[in-house]
Amino acid sequence: MSGARGIVVAIDGPAGAGKSTVARQVAGALGYTLVDTGSLYRASALVAERAGVSMGDQAGVEGTVSAAVARGALRLEAGDAGLTRVLVDGEDPAEALRTPAMSMGASAVAAYPGVREALLEAQRAFGRAGGVVLEGRDIGTVVFPKAELKVFLTASAEERARRRCDELRLRGIDADYAVTLAEVRQRDHQDASREIAPLREADDAVRVDSSNMEPQAVVDAIVALARGRGAV
Ligand code: DC
Repeated sequence: MSGARGIVVAIDGPAGAGKSTVARQVAGALGYTLVDTGSLYRASALVAERAGVSMGDQAGVEGTVSAAVARGALRLEAGDAGLTRVLVDGEDPAEALRTPAMSMGASAVAAYPGVREALLEAQRAFGRAGGVVLEGRDIGTVVFPKAELKVFLTASAEERARRRCDELRLRGIDADYAVTLAEVRQRDHQDASREIAPLREADDAVRVDSSNMEPQAVVDAIVALARGRGAV
């Protein structure tokens, strides 16, 4: 899989472990493209919501999302500075994807095989040439099982809830710690117990617990691992 453009770095782990920040900085340090695969699941929930399909309607969500992918209404494209972005109906929904409602919706629709299947090729298309950091839940186990470097980035549920509250407050959304902690646990449960592509550490992943680490230390550790696996 390693080529002129570099290796595939898979960063998986639960919500709030710091994956987004860390993956972005790792990609920046290596000069790699970043793919935030969670945004594809968030966008799928948004597509379903806009179509008036309930998140609990599996067949309805699967049909709506695969049709949207097939006609290009839900797609991933290269953005500025090595970033990729998800487009829904030709527009970047950015903030609309990051609300608590879309977090829960994404977690629900991510359990549907038809949704995961519809999004698989979009993720692989970006990673195939190498020189990419993909961030998600099943990159090392399903999307790129042969990735040269797999990192499982985790942190305690309490620490993840605290970070999530801080992040929401920074965006002006009033967040209650107890509610956020309950949501973190519920999403962990949903993500780990679903039948298809559950959140699971790959056997050959390097486990990094960020509970007591500064983000920069996590980034440095992963960049060093990537260089050890052939990234230049
Ligand atoms: O990383 P995130 O919070 O943006 O992800 C949103 C949801 O999508 C999350 O509940 C898990 C799901 N997801 C997934 O099942 N597989 C991925 N590769 C990425 C995200």
